[in-house]
Amino acid sequence: MSDRIVILTGAGISAESGLGTFRDEGGLWAQHRIEDVATPEGFARDPALVHDFYNARRAQAAAAKPNAAHKAIARLEAEHPGEVLIVTQNVDALHEAAGSRNVLHMHGALSRALCHACAHRWQAPEAMQPDDPCPACKAPATRPDVVWFGEIPYHMDEIEEALSRATLFAAIGTSGNVYPAAGFVTAARQLGIPTIEFNLDPSETSPLFDERRLGRASQTVPDWTRTLGS
Ligand code: OAD
Repeated sequence: MSDRIVILTGAGISAESGLGTFRDEGGLWAQHRIEDVATPEGFARDPALVHDFYNARRAQAAAAKPNAAHKAIARLEAEHPGEVLIVTQNVDALHEAAGSRNVLHMHGALSRALCHACAHRWQAPEAMQPDDPCPACKAPATRPDVVWFGEIPYHMDEIEEALSRATLFAAIGTSGNVYPAAGFVTAARQLGIPTIEFNLDPSETSPLFDERRLGRASQTVPDWTRTLGS
């Protein structure tokens, strides 16, 4: 029985909820340039474009429902006698909507706004504009509270600590292209922790995992959580 499970999730777990992934054919990075919409420099150049991108994603995410994979993980967290920590790269709230409580959003959340003048954070409205004033300092410096390329992901100390104590590491629906998340499997291996990957197709980091389950997360993840039992 594995009693401290760390589960890393990526865009693939939300794909069957209708949210686009980044690097699959026709994915978000085929339609938008990363430099334009997911870097601090892009935001400095054209904040309205960046807000439009995240406003559209916020609207799409608000309409999405958790699928069988999110629900299976939430059930595992509720029923498993050990600890289950979800570390997600996703900025949607589908893990929480499925009932998960122990979730770290390492790339931030669409539901949050951040003032880049005073670092105050608040609940994001449905749509944001660059000159929206910060509720705390009043500066027109509103940005989405998401982590962009070139910025440091959130909760890294907590994640590293959880990985160092984990007895099983699972990665679901992530292509293994973006660090530091893509490096968690190597860290787990070095610590001697068993690793398992769930993906539609082999990912960049597939060869590093002890076990791979190919297929749709809505099928492979519930099959797996059932075998872990309660
Ligand atoms: P990607 O779009 O890079 O990868 C999604 C992965 O999910 C791919 O490996 C797909 O094969 C897999 N996949 C798609 N549908 C699936 C399904 N139904 N079941 C199982 N797997 C499926 O997304 P991420 O790895 O999450 O960061 O991307 C990581 C980061 O890169 C994102 O958080 C974002 C992006 O740029 C920032 O914006 C900072």
